[in-house]
Amino acid sequence: MTTAVTARAHTNIALVKYWGKADATLMLPQTSSLSLTLDQFYTDTTVVFDPTLTADQITVNQVLLDEHASRKVRHVLDLVRAQAGIQTFAHVNSANHVPMAAGLASSASAFAALAGAASRAAGLDLSARDLSRLARRGSGSATRSIYGGFVEWHAGHDDASSYAEPLVDPVTWPIAMVALVLDAHRKKVSSRQGMQSSVTTSPYYPAWKQVVARDLAAIKPAILDQDFTTVGEILETNAMRMHALTLSADPAYSYFNGATLQAMQTVRELRATGIACYYTLDAGPNLKVFCQVADLPAITARFRQDLGAEQVIVAHPGPGLSWRS
Ligand code: DP6
Repeated sequence: MTTAVTARAHTNIALVKYWGKADATLMLPQTSSLSLTLDQFYTDTTVVFDPTLTADQITVNQVLLDEHASRKVRHVLDLVRAQAGIQTFAHVNSANHVPMAAGLASSASAFAALAGAASRAAGLDLSARDLSRLARRGSGSATRSIYGGFVEWHAGHDDASSYAEPLVDPVTWPIAMVALVLDAHRKKVSSRQGMQSSVTTSPYYPAWKQVVARDLAAIKPAILDQDFTTVGEILETNAMRMHALTLSADPAYSYFNGATLQAMQTVRELRATGIACYYTLDAGPNLKVFCQVADLPAITARFRQDLGAEQVIVAHPGPGLSWRS
């Protein structure tokens, strides 16, 4: 039990978004969702249960988290302790290879890696489905980061039925996601607060649930057929309709900034010149551009010229959770 276990999980970008909880305690979503795991952004987390500790010690990127900042991590550790029948506190060391809190979904890789490392360090041997359910209790999007490639999170109706499953993994389709770092600062409205206000105040929320059901039904066969245009059109409209929920909330807010709108316009200009590419974005201003590998040189050249080389990160489909002891 006092062995240290390290797990690595990659972030994912939702193509059909999760935006709203049905149960905030069990972290059950209002709808199912679908994502692509990315190879460039990941979290490595090491957990060791140590009988000499009198409290959990949690560091992220070498900074010790205080009581408040560590509450979600301790919640997941409590669930692991309950399942393993232990009371020992743990050292948790997490290194994020993701620009944090800028809509590049560091919480997805963080809680997937935590679920993997903490469960094994506690002596549990959970199935991928159970790891996905455990990761969900830390952050909804982490449910999907247990797997590589294209992943669907089934909303379910209780703790047992809400888990993710791979749709295609590994991915042989030559596609890429170009992440544009337009603002690396912490987001102003957390996704947790944002989705809560959308569910309770946006009059369009019922329509969003219909949009998601339709988009999921259409995107899955398109992914299996490697139908780039259909997948691209769905992910772009789905993202815009999710963001319409922020503008239609009371009080209204937006994750877009000026650079976001400018980059969307550039994607449309590239499309007009015959380069197929589509954008999506999460709870932050940073755009991700879905494209075919053959078009990467033209797309990256354009954004590197506009934004600078370091702000343009090319990601490909990434793998699921892995461990090293
Ligand atoms: C816009 O998973 O960060 O990225 O469950 O409250 O931790 P919590 O929220 P989080 O929300 C992700 C929202 C999203 C869309 C998505 O990843 O599906």
